[in-house]
Amino acid sequence: MTLTPVPRSAVIVVAAGSGTRLNGGVPKAFVGLDERTILHHALRGVFAAPPAQVVVVVPSTLRGEATTEAHEAAGDRAHLVTVVAGGTTRQESVAAGLAALWGDIETVLVHDAARALTPPAVFDRVIAAIEAGAAAVIPAVAVVDTIKRIDADGRVVAAVDRSELAAAQTPQGFRRDVLEAALAAADADHTDDAALVAAAGHDVITVEGDAIAFKITTAPDLERARALVREAPRPAASGEPATSGAPAASEEAATLPRVGLGTDVHGFGGAGTLWLAGLEWPGETALSGHSDGDAVAHAIVDALLAAAGLGDIGTHFGTDRPEFAGAHAGAFLSHTLDLLAAAGWRVGNVSVQVQANRPRFAARRVEAEQTLSAALGGAPVSVSATTTDGLGFTGRSEGVAAFATALIVPVQSSRVMNVDNGSGR
Ligand code: CTP
Ligand code: MG
Repeated sequence: MTLTPVPRSAVIVVAAGSGTRLNGGVPKAFVGLDERTILHHALRGVFAAPPAQVVVVVPSTLRGEATTEAHEAAGDRAHLVTVVAGGTTRQESVAAGLAALWGDIETVLVHDAARALTPPAVFDRVIAAIEAGAAAVIPAVAVVDTIKRIDADGRVVAAVDRSELAAAQTPQGFRRDVLEAALAAADADHTDDAALVAAAGHDVITVEGDAIAFKITTAPDLERARALVREAPRPAASGEPATSGAPAASEEAATLPRVGLGTDVHGFGGAGTLWLAGLEWPGETALSGHSDGDAVAHAIVDALLAAAGLGDIGTHFGTDRPEFAGAHAGAFLSHTLDLLAAAGWRVGNVSVQVQANRPRFAARRVEAEQTLSAALGGAPVSVSATTTDGLGFTGRSEGVAAFATALIVPVQSSRVMNVDNGSGR
């Protein structure tokens, strides 16, 4: 067995923000750039840099999904990945990342997942400056616009000399002890780590940043990043086979429809009336479950998420999401639709089969199809039902099983923009 050396440096990737300004339906780092999320692209850049511990800081409900993403991006470096839950401010998220550092780590880079396309050369320049003895270093780019100081009414108060200004980017590099002490001493919230360290009295030096390391903040930024990824796909992640001159399978896959399979089972014995296939069934025995036990809706959610490669129902609707306790099909399906839209997909069609002795679907099949279809933005849904000749748990009337397949298709970027930018912000 070969022992790999323990790294002395770490990269904390902060991805726990909600992305209010982007308003993408899911936390910003989990919005799709192509078939991959912003977080995945950011991590590809991180894993192209020299080996380091990589701490990924995400919303607590998305830790499972982030771990999958990080392991995929890490290739043979998956053992270097730690995923932790972030805080309500960026600074708290950085603190959560710092708390997860291994004992041997001496230098720390803090990187915004939102700067998803940061080239490896920027990492190299920051690391080189730290190795040369700097306690704190940031990548910076010249400010191209003419900058004015304005008052609360928007009146220009003064011109600001552009030559004295630089726009700060990430990754920002620090000696670990310096960043930890600055954070411990912080009495205010700072928008970046360099400001925190400067407030603690340290010199911060700059290295050259890169225009491509821009922060995805608003819908037009997202469009720009998506266009850049389309034009120049990133090189393969470490451990993935290199691409040849032919279009990569992943590039081709991004333009093809995808299918997914989902199944779900719930036992009879819940409180109240039965909810199944988005319909209430007065007089029928209810199913049990964290939500309304609608196995048909849940199988459809799983099929759609599987098709998009977005995990499964537990990833997005776990029992730690109180808002889905007792929720009906409409809430599940419309949230799933948002997740898909944010990742660049729309629903082609869904086919679902119910196995149960009761309820009898024949009389309400069309109503069920229309209800489910409406919850999925009008995509066709077909519902079929069968019994199992008295065999198995459905045959013994102990519960209901549902099996769904879904077809999803990539949307044009213009459609994604409409969905993402629903608030008009
Ligand atoms: N971030 C974080 N934890 C927070 C807030 C922000 O980890 N509580 C991360 C974001 O995920 C992002 C980076 O810090 O990668 C820069 O923040 P920003 O671009 O402002 O992202 P959001 O806060 O998510 O966006 P918004 O301000 O529009 O809500
Ligand atoms: Mg923010």
